[in-house]
Amino acid sequence: MILVTGGAGYIGSHTLIELNDAGFDFIVLDNLSNSSQEAIKRVEKIINKKITFIKGDIRDKELLRKIFSENEIDSVIHFAGLKAVGESVEKPLIYYENNVCGTNTLLEVMKEFNVKKFVFSSSATVYGEPEKMPVTEDMQTGIGITNPYGKSKYMIEEILKDLFISDNSFKIAILRYFNPVGAHESGIIGEDPSGIPNNLMPFISQVAVGKLPKLRVFGGDYPTKDGTGVRDFIHVVDLAKAHVKAIEYLNNNDLNEPLIVNLGTGRGYSVLEMIESFEKASGVKIPYEIVDRRPGDIAEIYANPNKAKKLLGWEAKRGIKEMCESAWKWQSEHPKGYEKIENEK
Ligand code: NAD
Ligand code: WQD
Repeated sequence: MILVTGGAGYIGSHTLIELNDAGFDFIVLDNLSNSSQEAIKRVEKIINKKITFIKGDIRDKELLRKIFSENEIDSVIHFAGLKAVGESVEKPLIYYENNVCGTNTLLEVMKEFNVKKFVFSSSATVYGEPEKMPVTEDMQTGIGITNPYGKSKYMIEEILKDLFISDNSFKIAILRYFNPVGAHESGIIGEDPSGIPNNLMPFISQVAVGKLPKLRVFGGDYPTKDGTGVRDFIHVVDLAKAHVKAIEYLNNNDLNEPLIVNLGTGRGYSVLEMIESFEKASGVKIPYEIVDRRPGDIAEIYANPNKAKKLLGWEAKRGIKEMCESAWKWQSEHPKGYEKIENEK
């Protein structure tokens, strides 16, 4: 049995489907601080099975003890965390408390209950401003990270490395996601940010559906192919499948260090290319203007995903077209995300 923390969230909810398809049992712990239980209900519909969902917090040690004592948990996939970069600059203590202290608490209780397999949602942000492209896992991390969110991911990675040094019976996978986008093909689950989206893809989707008037493109003078930022966008379903591979890897291999892998496609697309692709997928023109650079942004980052292919036998299969089409299906069929569905009841 796998404990999935943050399983009601964007990436977590998609991963539940892939875990179920691969035959894994799981339970979900989420405090719903950035998600809706409706996402779980939707996943239940897709997999045609009831999900054990616990509304609670990873920082609640007593609750964790109860969960570990009442369930035969052998591994944890840890998505739970706060992720808004700008907000983390405003509220650093909340981010460190939730992400770093929360993860520490979870690891303490895992140790208490002798649960040693751990898959962690890290981020390409730990590379800071990389010196060369594409990024490989052995490149330097921790230098030049511009916000507390990113630093919290780096700190957790360091905690996990130290934990392994102290107890090498832990089996740890650190997955460094690049830019997850898109939605499940059913169109009934997807990304549902609260308030005005920070990230590019949900912003474009909301402009396309008429919720926001126009996109601001942050910077048109980067040293990139067309002057706009370049990122390695990865379809959330591909990303979800990588978690199954990571769990299988931990189940089948002895590790002499934490496994660290990039999860990206290896291809960079610019902001303008994303706009163009989304326009094609949706048939809607996206009004935009080029404005100043966003503080803390880097020009370009994309993964070398070879390690994931070699060790996990995983590679991203879905391209930019599927990313935009699925994001559009979700957004156009659920313009208010999960909120509308809840209010209709
Ligand atoms: P999300 O906000 O949709 O999901 C995170 C979930 O964790 C939410 O459902 C939230 O309610 C829950 N949560 C937060 N704090 C909690 C706590 N203390 N106790 C219990 N539940 C808690 O985000 P997501 O995009 O699905 O991201 C999942 C993970 O992947 C996060 O750790 C995020 O930092 C990481 N990540 C995301 C991206 C991205 O671009 N989406 C990129 C790199 C890494
Ligand atoms: C992508 C590109 C922007 C919005 C962040 C976090 C990272 C990870 C993923 C998760 C950039 C441009 C964006 C807009 C724009 N986080 N952009 N107008 O910054 O690569 O990564 O999300 O948990 O840690 O840092 O993603 O989607 O915000 O931006 O022009 O309204 O789109 O400047 O070039 P980013 P993003």
